[in-house]
Amino acid sequence: MEDILELAKRRGFLWPSFEIYGGASGFYDYGPLGAALKNRVENLWRRFFVIGEGYMEISSPNLGVSEIFVASGHVGHFADPVVSCSECGESFRADHLLKESGVETDGMSYEEIESGLKDKGVICISCGGELSKISTFNLMFKTAIGAGGRTGYLRPETAQNIFILFNRLYEFYRKKLPFGVAQLGRAYRNEISPRQGLLRLREFSQAEIEVFVDPRSKETHPRFSEVAKVKLNMVPGERPEAEMVAGEAVKKGIIAHEFLAYHIVRTYQYLVGVGIPSDKIRFRQHKKTEMAHYACDCWDAEVRTERYGWVEVVGIADRTDYDLKSHITESGVDMSAFVRFDAAQVVEKTILAPHMKKLGPVFRKDAGLVGELISNSDPTGLKGDGSLDITFNGESVNVKPEMFEVKTVVERVEGEKIVPHVIEPSFGIDRIIYCILESAHREEERSGEMRTVLSLKPVVAPYDVAVFSLVSKDGLDEKAVEVFEQLKEKGLLVLFDTSGTIGRRYARSDEIGVPKAITVDFRTLDDSTVTVRNRDTMEQERVKIDELAQVLTKTL
Ligand code: ATP
Ligand code: GLY
Repeated sequence: MEDILELAKRRGFLWPSFEIYGGASGFYDYGPLGAALKNRVENLWRRFFVIGEGYMEISSPNLGVSEIFVASGHVGHFADPVVSCSECGESFRADHLLKESGVETDGMSYEEIESGLKDKGVICISCGGELSKISTFNLMFKTAIGAGGRTGYLRPETAQNIFILFNRLYEFYRKKLPFGVAQLGRAYRNEISPRQGLLRLREFSQAEIEVFVDPRSKETHPRFSEVAKVKLNMVPGERPEAEMVAGEAVKKGIIAHEFLAYHIVRTYQYLVGVGIPSDKIRFRQHKKTEMAHYACDCWDAEVRTERYGWVEVVGIADRTDYDLKSHITESGVDMSAFVRFDAAQVVEKTILAPHMKKLGPVFRKDAGLVGELISNSDPTGLKGDGSLDITFNGESVNVKPEMFEVKTVVERVEGEKIVPHVIEPSFGIDRIIYCILESAHREEERSGEMRTVLSLKPVVAPYDVAVFSLVSKDGLDEKAVEVFEQLKEKGLLVLFDTSGTIGRRYARSDEIGVPKAITVDFRTLDDSTVTVRNRDTMEQERVKIDELAQVLTKTL
């Protein structure tokens, strides 16, 4: 069977980038068919999450100033283990080399990887030379902004733009939690030695959602009952693999809370929606040792592929308040939310009330300021003798107990300030596209002949329909053009193909995944009907031209 990447290259879905200059691994161009497929995969994602969940989309710069990534931890921690060959100098990702020699490396420390490589006698896969000790390599692309050379980085994830816009977004959402924000855009990682086609790119498309939630409300999601009965194939941390419905997984504490479980199920439904068979999807929980520096719980949606085994396509993490708190510290900007209590609370509070009549003679013109400093002081900071130290005019001044009163007052409190937690589903569009292509690709024998079919779901196929004329004479071509124009006007994506025999044209449209093919033939000239052929079953039916658009829209 032809490799799907070969087919994708031959037919104009995907091309390795910069070919005329020798290429560079980790970069791909989407050709016309690939870009059409990608648009549809992304549009379905928007239908699910932007329209379906109301997570409004933003679009931010791909380049960011260094402070963002210092705060997020990427400057400090976003690194992979690398070994290089002492003979040819080629570098490799150490854990991937060990994995390729048959060792499960998820959650391994660098020391364990290093001794694993030694035990297995792993050598350079290019020339057989000795490998160096492990060092770390930061995956961000660094650059300089402007002539002044302010340090910038290409974003390694789209998420950070959303965190640093928190105050604007909170305002936009009328200061109510929870709310979600989506971003679909490019992310950049200077992967060490990418050798897995679309799965490990140095520039790729991420579709990310950050849902900001009050940490005390994570337990319940308002729409959880809609997904609670969906069955998931799960590999929970150190526990054995199991299949169970989402509701049970939450009840048993396998998935930490409904907010996380809800997004795991919606991810599952989306993956099935784009055409990945449900029995090829599983959710694997990260072991404590493999968790990203920002997460307290993380589940990967993985797809079983023929070529690469289980592949992570989506990461769904509880990022807690890690990112907002880090940006609060780095920027000095308050990014908290005010959460109203269901009912205002009446609380007793101890305060310090200054006696202005006694402060006046001692502090004269400064008495007002001293009074204010006393009021703002914490009553728990009083000294053993009941006096209070304040800092006034840059000096510490002791205020005697008779200058103020310690009072208990009753106050109405409407709510409190909190730093929201974040639930993040992070989709890798290119990996999803690989999985769609691989699972749709098949070669089969039909009536003694072999054919290649890309059984793409109509919702992601690069074209909805192909239009052919049986032969290019007697006005059939003109009639076919009429049908083509009519269907385009209805908003369908239509392929018009006139080259080669009708058999070749069917074969080509099957190979690129067009779900329906329409043929204009001699009978069309008599009764205004055409043949509609189904890509997967190869069955044909006659449909009136007038009813064509309606029939197609319904079946697609
Ligand atoms: P891996 O462990 O395979 O390197 P990751 O855990 O670093 O992946 P995340 O940081 O969770 O991946 O990124 C979120 C999603 O972005 C992934 O699920 C994946 O689909 C996608 N992704 C990450 N790195 C790449 C890459 N180099 N090329 C293509 N897609 C990627
Ligand atoms: N935003 C998750 C990741 O890219 O790691």
